[in-house]
Amino acid sequence: MGKESITITNNATGASEEFPLLHPTHGPSVADIRTLYSKMGIFTYDPGFKSTASCKSKITFIDGEKGILLYRGYGIEELAEKSNYLEVCYLLLHGELPAKEEYDKFAGIITRHSMVHEGFKSFLAGFRRDAHPMAIMVGMVGALSAFYHDSLEIHNPKHQEISAHRLIAKITTIAAAAYKYSIGQPINYPDNKLGYAENFLHMMFSVPAEKYEVDPLHAKALDLILILHADHEQNASTSTVRLAGSSEANPFAAASAGVGALWGPAHGGANEAVLTMLEEIGDVKNIPKFIDKAKNKDDSFRLMGFGHRVYKNYDPRAKLIKKMSRDIIEKTDGNDPLLEIALRLEEIAMKDDYFVERKLFPNVDFYSGITYKAIRIPVNMFTVVFTMGRMVGWMAQWAEMIQDPKRVIGRPRQLYDGAATRSYIPMDKR
Ligand code: ACO
Repeated sequence: MGKESITITNNATGASEEFPLLHPTHGPSVADIRTLYSKMGIFTYDPGFKSTASCKSKITFIDGEKGILLYRGYGIEELAEKSNYLEVCYLLLHGELPAKEEYDKFAGIITRHSMVHEGFKSFLAGFRRDAHPMAIMVGMVGALSAFYHDSLEIHNPKHQEISAHRLIAKITTIAAAAYKYSIGQPINYPDNKLGYAENFLHMMFSVPAEKYEVDPLHAKALDLILILHADHEQNASTSTVRLAGSSEANPFAAASAGVGALWGPAHGGANEAVLTMLEEIGDVKNIPKFIDKAKNKDDSFRLMGFGHRVYKNYDPRAKLIKKMSRDIIEKTDGNDPLLEIALRLEEIAMKDDYFVERKLFPNVDFYSGITYKAIRIPVNMFTVVFTMGRMVGWMAQWAEMIQDPKRVIGRPRQLYDGAATRSYIPMDKR
């Protein structure tokens, strides 16, 4: 196979085989080892997929060394400046930017699918009021398949499309309902006159007793946050959606699995953990103590919002949101002490050899948490907002997976190091 291949040699047996090298549009070459087991009888061992491409994808590209993020080839900085969330949704789902009529039609469809079945209200009423909104989200997103089973033929392109539209449109209504339920206020219906981010803020904060005007700056900040969270190639939750969907489970069930994966503090839950950490630090003078804790190998504490599996340079999303968080805080809260702690923490960490050597830069969650706080989103809703933004990425990736004619069920192998074969010992002999 020459230059376009790699050779794997088993030094124990002397057996040697060549495997093709695949060349992506951007990024490192990929050794195609799909036939490794059939040719050589061995598996690869790569927990956490640190060197393994789990699929081919045309949707999102990240260069973690250079801090680059592209959606369908467009840089995140340009999209953040010139586009809006619904246009980005169209781009991720369809691969191209929409023409004016395409955009208007798409935005109209999403707007008109934002109501949820009335039966959801009694379903919601079964949850404890003190439940975490993400716990409610896992249940409600999965339950959509029980309410909308007219679109569950996963190989039918129309059903694929309508399910994606329903999930993107209804996720904001479900999220706001989970919040309203937790604080004992009536659930708001969506308002079709409002934009996507605006509508969510309206459903979160308006009450029947008083007229509520959405602050355009808050809507703009939220729209930006949604754009920045829309997709991030094969992260833990997206891989979960693909894996669940590869068994041909319906997209609502697959998305619900994604919500569960996103909840964890090492992934989407980090934005909530950042705020908890900043509140725990409490004062700029306590920062060195917390930096020491993060560096101490006998202490499990990590600086939340620092480090990323892929970005070993500044997370480009963090740069964009950092600027927005400053603008919004200046215009609303003046000087938020938590922002001051955050800025000093970043400054101190970025001069510390421990963080520099390990390339632990602030990630998107570091500044998104502060921005959410400034626009009055409660801390336990932070990961829910991330879920709203990421829903479109999950749907684009799910559709790409289900439409791939070479799709196979995701089924990793393992390195078994448990007990060797042994015989059952009767209980009285143990
Ligand atoms: N604070 C202190 N030390 C850290 C941190 C941190 N936040 N992150 C990594 N390290 C250290 C590790 O202890 C390790 O040190 P060692 O080499 O001396 O053992 C080294 O840096 C590499 O860490 P890994 O865990 O191997 O890095 P990995 O790529 O597996 O983890 C992760 C990435 C999970 C994001 C990690 O950096 C982390 O836990 N960060 C805090 C949580 C967070 O902010 N998550 C959000 C991710 S972004 C997102 O989901 C949108």
